[in-house]
Amino acid sequence: MKPINVGLLGIGTVGGGTYTVLTRNQEEITRRAGRPIRIVKVADRNLALAKEVTKGEVEVTDDAFAVVTDPNVDIVVELIGGYTVAKELVLKAIENGKHVVTANKALLAVHGNEIFAAAQKKGVIVAFEAAVAGGIPIIKALREGLTANRIEWIAGIINGTTNFILTEMREKGLDFADVLKEAQRLGYAEADPTFDVEGIDAAHKLTIMSAIGFGIPMQFDKAYTEGITKLTGDDIRYAEELGYRVKLLGITRKTEKGVELRVHPTLIPEKRLIANVNGAMNAVLVMGDAVGPTMYYGAGAGAEPTASSVVADLVDVTRMHTADPHHRVPHLAFQPDQLSDLPI
Ligand code: HSE
Repeated sequence: MKPINVGLLGIGTVGGGTYTVLTRNQEEITRRAGRPIRIVKVADRNLALAKEVTKGEVEVTDDAFAVVTDPNVDIVVELIGGYTVAKELVLKAIENGKHVVTANKALLAVHGNEIFAAAQKKGVIVAFEAAVAGGIPIIKALREGLTANRIEWIAGIINGTTNFILTEMREKGLDFADVLKEAQRLGYAEADPTFDVEGIDAAHKLTIMSAIGFGIPMQFDKAYTEGITKLTGDDIRYAEELGYRVKLLGITRKTEKGVELRVHPTLIPEKRLIANVNGAMNAVLVMGDAVGPTMYYGAGAGAEPTASSVVADLVDVTRMHTADPHHRVPHLAFQPDQLSDLPI
């Protein structure tokens, strides 16, 4: 069957992981998607790296706009991060009728309403499983598995870098700065690690989960955001003496006044499951009115775990693209016209 053609923007940690997973699991992925998914063009500022990762098997360029306007590309995978150029590229891809798969939580939390409206107008899909909690399929859980429920609240450890830092500080008594360097080396941290340690990355992800869970627009600017930079080794030790662990939690819930969004360090009794989520792992708790509490656990950052979600979206989008457009599952992409006007 005719392959679906993918243009990949960014071949760094997640881009490299995506290339590896797609290549290694090609047979299973083709079977599940119903047709081959083929990367036909890669854009990266570092051409040498792009050539090395793709082993000269794919056309590489340093001009990302050449990818999003290429008539041969059906799906654009945006993995460059940031708000400015990424936004231009994603909107250009949509304008050119491409579906978009992105891991860019910052972009969606801040400009998602505009991007989803543009996608809906053009009849293309914007999929973003990899934007929240790395390899945990939490967007699909919220949108599909829990679709019968009224969501009451969502709470979770949704930043791997800070969870890694807090774990290493507690278990090994290491300094904040040293652990941060290690998180950067392992590819967990954002290009600007301030986003991780100040809770901004977690607030981006919380904004997206809140929008999907409660059917409201992205409201990142309404989130209360506090990171872990003021925590000391003593805070963590004293908490432990009292039987608690310190975790950076993102919490969103419905209240009578609207939807609350907050990210801050939280004391959790050490016997709770979520208190024992360590290292760069993430965990998300979702309370649905029918199902009750549910919990999702897995790697929240890193090359292949995040690639697992990128490729899952590629498979979904391929199935949708191949299906009759009139029978596409409407909730696969964010549907702004289905949003309630619940205050936030
Ligand atoms: N910097 C992010 C984290 C990467 O540490 O969780 C995954 O979104």
